[in-house]
Amino acid sequence: MLASYTEQIDQALTDCLAEFTTPAELYQPVQYLFEAGGKRVRPIICLLACEAGGGNPANAMSAAIAVELLHTFTLMHDDIMDRSPMRRGRPTVHVKYNENTAILSGDVMIGMAMRMLERSAELAPQPIRVIQAFTTGLIEVCEGQSMDMTFMERHDVTVDEYFTMIDKKTAKLLEMSAAIGVLIAGGSDAHLHHLTTFMREIGIAFQMQDDLLDLAGSPAFGKAPGGDLLEGKRTWMVLRMRDLCQMPSAQTGHRTLIESFFAKNGLVPDQVPAMTAALTEIGVLAEAEQKIRSITEEAFQHLYQLPASPAREALATLAHRLMSRTN
Ligand code: IPE
Ligand code: IPE
Ligand code: MG
Ligand code: MG
Ligand code: MG
Repeated sequence: MLASYTEQIDQALTDCLAEFTTPAELYQPVQYLFEAGGKRVRPIICLLACEAGGGNPANAMSAAIAVELLHTFTLMHDDIMDRSPMRRGRPTVHVKYNENTAILSGDVMIGMAMRMLERSAELAPQPIRVIQAFTTGLIEVCEGQSMDMTFMERHDVTVDEYFTMIDKKTAKLLEMSAAIGVLIAGGSDAHLHHLTTFMREIGIAFQMQDDLLDLAGSPAFGKAPGGDLLEGKRTWMVLRMRDLCQMPSAQTGHRTLIESFFAKNGLVPDQVPAMTAALTEIGVLAEAEQKIRSITEEAFQHLYQLPASPAREALATLAHRLMSRTN
């Protein structure tokens, strides 16, 4: 089911991109980023949520493309903000083209997304609710990205603040994808509640996993390894290390490293291997893996409030796969 949905999504994406071709300077970078791949997690969630909500997933296909477009817009702009050189195994758009191109091609994807959303929304019992869910997702992701940026000016970011930030920048788009699917189906409020809560919690685990993969950095991940450490990102791992290094028993080498990370707002490339080793030694990586597992398992309580169906099982499989993903 997941494979077949991915294939249908890719076909629908190709059809959508064929509608937007001129000016080539605007749309080619969009095409470039889509061609590079991606897991298509959010459109799959949208289609499965529609099906689990008792609807026809074909009605949600345009909305599924809309959520992928919105997500891809966030990636194009996020890479400028994070100064990231690689995305989906290729040079990022602002590196391959230039910054202005990445800004505008990112912007137009919001418009393309809305155009696609209109087509599914008009098939929904309450179109305005579909639009509202999309708008909420867009606002939340910008608020989350703003927190991500301002945290880099602070040394005292708390773990709670970190969770609020990743809820907004990442989990809310997964939640939105589920909400849009259920709303197109005209599913019950209970369906909406359980599925969106499930997806939001999976979204938190998903971002923690992304932070972990940023360190582990196999080529399959498609992004330059260690980028978060170089940029000074306040991930759960560095916040946890900072807190553990307050203890009298902490090793001086570890303390020096984390102090340097906060004082200089990131490491230099030479320090990355030592940091990865330190995070392993003090058990922070293992703790993060455990946390990802426990958040995922807890999320399932919400999924299992829904009646059993092939779509529900496919969502469960998807969530499990995300936890052990390499890309
Ligand atoms: C990357 O999202 C941005 C995060 C929220 C961590 P994905 O990991 O879903 O990226 P693609 O679409 O598969 O490339
Ligand atoms: C993900 O943040 C959130 C958004 C892209 C909105 P990251 O900055 O961790 O995402 P990647 O790692 O660049 O994909
Ligand atoms: Mg970012
Ligand atoms: Mg980034
Ligand atoms: Mg990341």
